[in-house]
Amino acid sequence: MAETYDGAVDRGLEGVVACTTAISSIVDATLTYRGYTIEDLAEKKSFEEVVYLLWNNKLPSDSELTELKSKLEKEAGLEPGLIATLKTLPTENVHPMAWLRTAASAMALSDSSADDMSKEDLWRKTYRITSKMGALVAAFHRLRNGSEIVPPKAGKSMAWNFLYMLNGVEPDAETEKVFDTCLTLHADHELNCSAFSARVTTSSLSDVYSSVVSAIGTLKGPLHGGANEQVMRMLKKIETVENAKEWIKNALANKEKVMGFGHRVYKNGDPRAKILRKMSESMTKKSGEPQWYEISKVIDDTVQSEKGLLPNVDFYSATVYYSMGIPLDLYTPIFAVSRVSGWLAHILEQYENNRIYRPRGEYTGHTHLKI
Ligand code: ACO
Repeated sequence: MAETYDGAVDRGLEGVVACTTAISSIVDATLTYRGYTIEDLAEKKSFEEVVYLLWNNKLPSDSELTELKSKLEKEAGLEPGLIATLKTLPTENVHPMAWLRTAASAMALSDSSADDMSKEDLWRKTYRITSKMGALVAAFHRLRNGSEIVPPKAGKSMAWNFLYMLNGVEPDAETEKVFDTCLTLHADHELNCSAFSARVTTSSLSDVYSSVVSAIGTLKGPLHGGANEQVMRMLKKIETVENAKEWIKNALANKEKVMGFGHRVYKNGDPRAKILRKMSESMTKKSGEPQWYEISKVIDDTVQSEKGLLPNVDFYSATVYYSMGIPLDLYTPIFAVSRVSGWLAHILEQYENNRIYRPRGEYTGHTHLKI
């Protein structure tokens, strides 16, 4: 007799608590990393301090922060062998997230200890992968434009170095701070789709690179990290403040999803969106194109009044990145540059208390067929 199960969850595991975690928490509209609110961290701490916090369950002392930075710095550049492999990958008509997924996998092939599961080596790989993610995204952009890959500079923050490796130009202090805050805001988010994916891969005791590759593939989708790029594409189509309200009303009437709105967990607003909204307002002004914020605001008001949905992290981050001159298709890879720190926190946590994820599926297909 076939086994039957109560309550098969076909609708995206809504409300299912799949594991315990001590990394980040969402309660109503409050997001905390290891007990600190996202507002406090965004205002008062650097991305590197946040990375230390996520991995070590405490904020770093000065000497701990110096040690973390030097370990990240040691791994920051791309080795010649890895660059040679990257140069063989196509960049034309290739989405940067697809390229990044392959490049992260190539990183494993250039690491002779990729399968070493010792604690010490897991930590080495944690620094290596986190540190190189920004260099990979920047390298993709340089390679597709036929420019030389720019190596990182010593003594600079990860935010500074990412912008420098991308553009080959030193960013100003304000731009560095804004980008650093964006990295902090995207670093972790409880059991989000990509972190869950990383944990599932980890639970088979696969190697850490495989878990990160799984997570990159998951983040790529437009219902998850891919939404930020789509937000900017939508704003470009809308073009003017005058068009915005009607455009959105039509989209909703046609049952289209407005990218950057809605969330499985937040029903009273995403606290990251509130911080990013202010950043979007000031950055679009600074770049001389305030209309992108103004259009966003009309969309925000319209989606709220028509559908009762609030913006998520992807909505206002789009105009922040746009104001910084970042190409649209790099928005989701940038998400990965930050979120890799959270994925690794989840991967380490999963290894510490592992049991393979193996749920059941309630069978609804044919039975008793004969050949
Ligand atoms: N625009 C229009 N309608 C929406 C939107 C949206 N952005 N989001 C949800 N809805 C509607 C749905 O159509 C559905 O309506 P219905 O009940 O009449 O069918 C209802 O609200 C519930 O939405 P679901 O899609 O079932 O909600 P779920 O929790 O499964 O999905 C998600 C959450 C994926 C974020 C969804 O809101 C969405 O697709 N948003 C747009 C994509 C996006 O911004 N993703 C980024 C999320 S944040 C992140 O991952 C980094």
